[in-house]
Amino acid sequence: MYPSRILLSLTAIAAWAGTALAGPIDVQVAERQTQKLRISEFILAARASFVSLTPLTRSLVPLGDSITEITCWRALVWDMLADAKYADQVQYVGSQNSNPQNCKPNTANWDEHHEGHSGWLAIDIANNYLTKWMQSTPADIVMFMLGTNDVVRGHSTADIMAAYTKMVNIMRTANPKMKIIVDMVIPLSLGSNSGITAINNAIPDWAKKLNTTDSPIVIADCNTGFPTSDLRDGVHPNLAGDKIIASRIGPLLLNYVQESLGK
Ligand SMILES: *[C@@H]1O[C@H](CO)[C@@H](O)[C@H](O)[C@H]1NC(C)=O
Repeated sequence: MYPSRILLSLTAIAAWAGTALAGPIDVQVAERQTQKLRISEFILAARASFVSLTPLTRSLVPLGDSITEITCWRALVWDMLADAKYADQVQYVGSQNSNPQNCKPNTANWDEHHEGHSGWLAIDIANNYLTKWMQSTPADIVMFMLGTNDVVRGHSTADIMAAYTKMVNIMRTANPKMKIIVDMVIPLSLGSNSGITAINNAIPDWAKKLNTTDSPIVIADCNTGFPTSDLRDGVHPNLAGDKIIASRIGPLLLNYVQESLGK
């Protein structure tokens, strides 16, 4: 938005200067002196407005599978951002813009952008999609929960963690200062939970190893204390489950937003 405003003010300065300079020859010299002063005032003002128009918006990506797409925790986390008075300074970004669960948070105009893709695997996202998404919707903060579909399709914990590593590398290539929240995956009550447990057990050491000052990784424990009775269909959270997820991600996200806004 601001570049066009700056362009307009520069055009205005040029037009104003041109008109003023086209005055009678005998007054031109005196006018030019005044004008130089006025132009420098204009430039100073333009610089000041450039500074104040520098966008403070921080872009946040909710990245994941159906547990991100067809659920309401994104909406509940938005309420937390709004309650903390960050709603005007943040936006969710991603190639998707939808509210398939018809969530109705307190904030009616919550930002419905996201990168949640029902049925998708961490492995496929890492190998085939994330680079493009990070380029088309640049971000400051990524929060992700992935791996459930990989587990259901029988992929090994090692392969899933390798996909996590690849995703972090892609995020950091896109933005060396990317702030990352990795979610421990919520339980499954359809079939065996052992693959989910294995990912969650691997996450702490994995995150510690990849953690850097420039691009921190923090863990949102969305699994501990999440009862399978808070799953509506054995896989996806019901509203109570959404509230648990939001309560684990929200505070970490608020910290990141606060830090990245320099507050
Ligand atoms: C990563 O480092 C930050 C400090 O920069 C720390 O707050 C955070 O807990 C660390 N994450 C992990 C997973 O150890």
